[in-house]
Amino acid sequence: MLDPLLKMENPALSDSAFDLDTVERLLTTTRAVRRRLDYERPVEREVILDCIRISQQAPTGTNAQHWRWLVIDDPDKKAALGEIYARGIPLLDEMSKSAKDAQTATVYNHARDFAARLGDVPIHVIPCLEGRLDEDAQQVHITTYYGSVYQAVWSFQLALRSRGLGSVFTTMHLAFEEESRQILDLPENVVQTALLPVAYTLGMDFKPTDRPPPESITHFNEWGA
Ligand SMILES: Cc1cc2nc3c(=O)[nH]c(=O)nc-3n(C[C@H](O)[C@H](O)[C@H](O)COP(=O)(O)O)c2cc1C
Repeated sequence: MLDPLLKMENPALSDSAFDLDTVERLLTTTRAVRRRLDYERPVEREVILDCIRISQQAPTGTNAQHWRWLVIDDPDKKAALGEIYARGIPLLDEMSKSAKDAQTATVYNHARDFAARLGDVPIHVIPCLEGRLDEDAQQVHITTYYGSVYQAVWSFQLALRSRGLGSVFTTMHLAFEEESRQILDLPENVVQTALLPVAYTLGMDFKPTDRPPPESITHFNEWGA
């Protein structure tokens, strides 16, 4: 919850047209949900479309909105993606053993356990881009390309959370991009940018996590200052 003193001292906060406590709660508690997904409760296609509707307002380079959403609720296709995804289990196990701190080790342990269950999550949502980057694409093109979908993805995840659903942003299946492309019968020029397993969450009481304070990662005017 926002510090009431901060609200009084900062006109931008006291004049806001938004319910800032709710907005802050949404932004700080939308977590990677793996262990509290409801595998039994079906997810309606309408709710997915509603969240996509909201994400359509995200910014895009050249106002293009080249993103497309592939929503998978076919059990066979999900199982096939789950099989590919589970190949990452030994790697996640290794990463957990050599993690730099306990929090990160826990994340890898949860990610490893979840990898065995991905195929059972009610819905897989795959944000895609039409058109591939050239092999010699410059930094500006790479940034614009991925920047033109990931902002919509995060809006989509926030919209899910606001409606009692959860997801995890995952990329591990892309280690087998070609195989997954064939499972999904995707045209060659369609690029998968993530795989979001989506389900209703068991409870909604997620909490902010420990992150470095803004002062420790922000520079004003001069790098290092
Ligand atoms: C680019 C990116 C790739 C990720 N890939 C995976 C993945 O393949 N599997 C997974 O379980 N989580 C994946 N995550 C989720 C992160 O593990 C998670 O966001 C992180 O541990 C922090 O947890 P939090 O989102 O709850 O704060 C990915 C996140 C990002 C941003």
